[in-house]
This record gives sequence, C-alpha cells and structure tokens, in this order.
Amino acid sequence: MNRKQFIGIAAGAIGVTVSSSYLLSDRSNLLRQDIKLKDSNNITLKPDEKAILYLSSLAPSGHNTQPWFFQYLEPYHWIIGNDKSKWLPAIDPTQRETILSIGAFIQNLEYAASSFGYVCHWNLLANTNQDEQVVEVKLNKIESKSPFNISRIKDRRTVRSNFLNDELKVEDLQYLVSSEAEFIHYLPAIGKEGKFVNEQTIVANRLQTYREPAQQELSEWIRFSTKDADKYRDGLTTASMEIEGFSGWIVRNFYNKDSVMKKDFREVGLDKVKQQVSESAGWILITSKDNSVATLLESGRRMQRLFLKVREKNIAIHPMTQILEESSTRQMLNQAVGISENIQFILRVGYLKDYPQPVSLRRPVDWFIRA
Ligand SMILES: Cc1cc2nc3c(=O)[nH]c(=O)nc-3n(C[C@H](O)[C@H](O)[C@H](O)COP(=O)(O)O)c2cc1C
Repeated sequence: MNRKQFIGIAAGAIGVTVSSSYLLSDRSNLLRQDIKLKDSNNITLKPDEKAILYLSSLAPSGHNTQPWFFQYLEPYHWIIGNDKSKWLPAIDPTQRETILSIGAFIQNLEYAASSFGYVCHWNLLANTNQDEQVVEVKLNKIESKSPFNISRIKDRRTVRSNFLNDELKVEDLQYLVSSEAEFIHYLPAIGKEGKFVNEQTIVANRLQTYREPAQQELSEWIRFSTKDADKYRDGLTTASMEIEGFSGWIVRNFYNKDSVMKKDFREVGLDKVKQQVSESAGWILITSKDNSVATLLESGRRMQRLFLKVREKNIAIHPMTQILEESSTRQMLNQAVGISENIQFILRVGYLKDYPQPVSLRRPVDWFIRA
C-alpha cells in the first residue's frame, strides 16, 4: 500500500466512524407529537374520563413537574391531589406555585369536561398548600350549549423566544383582560413599570442561578437525553427549553446534572434571559386578594383561562416567576409597580410571527392515578 492509498483508507475509516457515531447518537429533540399514546391497560377508567384527565394534565406547571394526582372514588367522581414528590422546595418553599399549577389543571378539567357534556361540582378539601387531598369533583351529564373547544387546550404552550416588540393592540388587550380586569394588569415594556420588571427579572435570575439549592433543583428537572425524557415524561427537555439544532445535539449527548452547576451553563442561561426580556410587548401580572388555598386555586384557573385565549390572537405567554421566588426582588415589586394586592404571576407577553406547536411532555394518565 502506498502513502496515498493509506491516507485514503484512513480518512474513509474516520469518516465511517464519525458518521456511524453520529447515527448512533441522540439525534433529535423528542416532541410531544413523537409520543404515541398507547391504549390504557387500566380497566377502571372510561374512555371519556381518561380523555378529560389527559387534557387536564396539559396544564402548565413550574419546571413541568406536573404536581397533581387523582384518586378514583367511582365513575366520574374523583379527588384531585397534591403530589409532594413533585414539589420545588428551593424556589417554591410554601408550595404557592404548586397550588397555582393545580388550579390550572382544575380549569382544564372543567373545560375538558364541558366539551364531553359534563358539568363539574367541586368541593374544596385542602386547608393548606401542603394537604394531599385538594379538591373533590363530580361530573354530571348535561345538555351543554357551549362546549369548550379542546383544541385550545391541546395547542396551548409556553413560548420563550422570538417575541416581537409590538405593543398589545387595544382590542386584543380588551379581549384578554376585560372580563377579569380587577386581577389582570398589563405593564407595557416601554413604560416605567415594565422596564422595572425587565431589569428585576435579570437581577432575580442572576440571584437564583447562583443560589446553589435552586440551581441543583433545576438540574434535577432537566431531561437531557431522549431516553430520560421518554422515561419520565416530565421536566424540561431540550425541545421545551427551545435548544435546537447543533446546540440541542450537544446538550442531549454531552450534558448532565453536573453541567448545570458549571459557570458557563449559568452564564449562557443569563444571556438568554437578557435576550428574552429585550423582546416583548410587556408584562401581565395576575393578582389576588389573599393567599388562601381557594384563592390560589382560583388564581391558577384565572391564569389558565387567559393562557387558553392568547394563541388565537398570535400572542405568546412566558411565565417568568423569579422576581417572586427571590425574597430581595419580591419585596420591592409591589411598590415599584404600584399594585397593593398579592402578585401571583408575572407573565411576559408578546406577538409572534410563527406560533410553534406544543412540545413539552406529559405523563400518561395511568401514571398519576392513585389507589
Ligand atoms: C407557576 C408556574 C411558574 C412557572 N415559571 C416559569 C419560569 O420562571 N420560567 C419559565 O421559563 N417557565 C415557567 N413556567 C412555565 C413552565 O415551565 C411550563 O408550563 C412547563 O414547562 C410546561 O410547558 P408548557 O406550558 O409549554 O406546556 C411556569 C409555569 C407555572 C405554572
């Protein structure tokens, strides 16, 4: 073999190794549409019960922990519960956000039930944010005049990038806010208050990313590989974090929990936050009169009613809750934005040119039923 032939064979061998390694690697983001819903083995649930509970679970939750479960009492009669193993003690030590997420689940449940011709009767069971049994629900068949359009539940998603800077149009704002104006407040990004929330969101994210327990907790909820995403069907995936292309490939194949604790991961995250806050129409704040369980559930429901309305107007919602999660930033917020009520949600809002499909994963219904 002469030198030229050798180099040719060696280069070919390297090429084959590189391309076969690539072929064997974790090549693409796992999306919600990639998961094939298998028929349940569960003989207890009727098909419409299962559909209603799955649609309920499409609700948003912090880090996509999906902190709910249900107990099956009898057909169409369930208890909705708070799953302690899904709490986020470092960023949500009082389970305020857990209850808000369960509120969003409950709103989806009511809308989904209405689309199958049921009306819900609710009975609050929880006295505190930590009680396991939150609410009892009974579904009764009715002749529904205005069933909810469930494609709104299926198509809702959190969007984090590529917001336009255009202000919300008066008629869109009216549509989103008018029915609940007492509790929904819009702060345009160009106003003094909007700018304050922009700046403080960056400050709070910096505090949180360098607060070790918070960063550690985040690392526990990132599903780096497709294998893990499929195994757990929760948490934050490369797709839901909107890490696409080559960057996504790197993260899926080479990152793990330890990478999240490295300085460059934290700094890249902060750069992303700076970019995000520079793009928006402004902020929507959702407030409440008090912090009781009933009020938090209602605030979660209110947020979800709003969230289910935005897509048809091409408006994106990105909850950015760090100001509320870090005590030093939380303390200054009310006064600076001139709101005296309890602020439960901080939502970045803005128009999109292209609205992406939902990608975050959900556990199958069989995984969140409890005997
Ligand atoms: C109470 C609460 C707090 C949240 N906080 C944040 C946040 O600070 N940053 C963020 O990017 N997303 C936040 N989210 C959005 C969730 O990460 C998102 O709902 C979840 O990953 C599921 O994705 P989906 O909304 O597209 O279904 C929050 C959601 C809820 C309900």
